[in-house]
Amino acid sequence: MRRGLLFVALLLSTSHSIAEEYDPTTGLVIAEGWQLVRIHCGGCHSHALVTGQRADRQTWLDVIRWMQATQNLWQFDAATESGILDYLSANYPPQANRRRAPIPPSLRPPMDTNESR
Ligand code: HEC
Repeated sequence: MRRGLLFVALLLSTSHSIAEEYDPTTGLVIAEGWQLVRIHCGGCHSHALVTGQRADRQTWLDVIRWMQATQNLWQFDAATESGILDYLSANYPPQANRRRAPIPPSLRPPMDTNESR
């Protein structure tokens, strides 16, 4: 019995450390720097515009520069900007492993005639 409980506790703690946590209000992944993005990136549009984007650090910077040049986004001090970029490039990188692996062709349904391939 004791052993069983220990096993369950172990399972729970393991899955907890693997699972990402999300802020229920903004949908942002809770990780270092997320508060910066919560504060600075939700004033003009939904945070969903942020969480729906995937980009490397340079491209995130380009998006910020574009908003600063054309959308009245304010300037950030260097520490804030790099904190934002660290967070975004770590948690919303290109080709993030958030998608499942492709289904092998043998397991896919037969190709649909509507499909343009
Ligand atoms: C001062 C207002 C403002 C703030 C603050 C702001 N944005 Fe934006 N952002 C915009 C506007 C306006 C658009 C264009 C929205 C549209 O096309 O519907 C936009 C678009 C975007 C897009 C979509 C770009 C694309 O290519 O479609 C992303 C991603 C984005 N913002 C991320 C951010 C991030 C990250 C932050 C925080 C660093 C941020 N925004 C803060 C005004 C802002």
